[in-house]
Amino acid sequence: MHSYARVPDCVHFWRFVVKAHSSDGDSMTDLRGKRILLGVSGGIAAYKSADLVRRLGDVGAEVRVVMTAGAQEFVRPLTFQAVSGNPVHTSLLDPEAEAAMGHIELARWADGVLIAPASANVIARLANGLADDLLTTLCLATEAPVAIAPAMNRVMWSHPATLANVTRLAERNVTVLGPGDGDQACGEIGSGRMLEPLDLVDGLAGLFPAPALTGLHVLLTAGPTREAIDPVRYISNRSSGRMGFAVAAAAARSGARVTLVTGPVELVTPPGVERVDVESAAQMHQAVMERLVDCSIFIACAAVADYRVATPADAKIKKRNAGMALELVRNPDILADVASVEQPPFTVGFAAETHDLQANAEDKRRRKGVDMIAANWVGRPIGGFEAADNALEVSWEGGRVALESKPKTRLAVELLELIGARYRASRTPDYGAKA
Ligand code: C5P
Repeated sequence: MHSYARVPDCVHFWRFVVKAHSSDGDSMTDLRGKRILLGVSGGIAAYKSADLVRRLGDVGAEVRVVMTAGAQEFVRPLTFQAVSGNPVHTSLLDPEAEAAMGHIELARWADGVLIAPASANVIARLANGLADDLLTTLCLATEAPVAIAPAMNRVMWSHPATLANVTRLAERNVTVLGPGDGDQACGEIGSGRMLEPLDLVDGLAGLFPAPALTGLHVLLTAGPTREAIDPVRYISNRSSGRMGFAVAAAAARSGARVTLVTGPVELVTPPGVERVDVESAAQMHQAVMERLVDCSIFIACAAVADYRVATPADAKIKKRNAGMALELVRNPDILADVASVEQPPFTVGFAAETHDLQANAEDKRRRKGVDMIAANWVGRPIGGFEAADNALEVSWEGGRVALESKPKTRLAVELLELIGARYRASRTPDYGAKA
């Protein structure tokens, strides 16, 4: 069932809370592994927050609770300790508690902060950037996203001071969940009720948008290839594999399933990446073609040797006085072959050029029939194969972006954002018409 919690009409920035509960009343939200700092401030709705801790646990979150002095007048810390399974944090100036887990440590620990209930007082203190107790100090010290679930009498809620404070918080990207309408503890009816725990759990999920490439299979090539001359010698190039490994790492962090087919490099496999080691272009070609099924995006970062020795010797070639000639034959073009399969993935190639960067890259993109090309200078003092930094000129049919020089790890993140955006655009029905 999908429905929307009603939120005040007077303020335009409220985030709607999507209710997506299964028929038995459980939340379908997944917060597995998320560390949620729950701040409880003084209000009668604090009793509902004990249930909220349980609901957060049901969807896989780990919860630590911070209580204001006012909250402790309504519910005892022991209640929250029992439901969260963790000690409850109540004081900024308690040396024992600080020794166990200091406020900065706690602020860093959190993936997200939810204040529920958020009283008019705590909202006012947050809006003014006060740090006069543990909860407000944590909110200043954390880099995690913060959400508040206001709960108060309807007149207090609609007071211009409260609305101004909430507006200020929303402008600072604090997510405001609710409040809801209905009967209030004070006997009045109106807006100011804290949302129900299940709605808060679902609303909290909005703090953690799904990574951009979740559900996609990204296949990459990286590094150089080695083309054997004899059992001890080979033809290769200066590619370090760094750019390809950085793009693979960024893809894994974006939620994709990542397969990295790599030539010989001295690099550690990024977390979450499936690595396939190969040596020659022919092996790389085979490894890629075998893994194309279900591949959404193919990124060819490898510096593949264009030629291989026609007949590598079985034994070490002996020195002779005369010179020697090696007969070379063309290697398969992996990128062009991937781009020409019946239903190709979104294909991205690299172009390393010593001159006419843009013209050569564009020519390569069209010739190989790929969706996007990332071009960089090589053979110059800055950037290129062995350097830690690089700059890229990225182009596609009808568009072009220059990514300025920066460490390859950061460049990879920017490149991947572009690839993700172009990939999504390519999957819209009118892509061919626009391109
Ligand atoms: O034609 P050129 O080698 O300059 O093209 C570079 C791009 O093509 C890179 O993305 C590279 O990984 C890819 N490529 C390939 N197979 C080859 C040669 C290049 O996939 N045999």
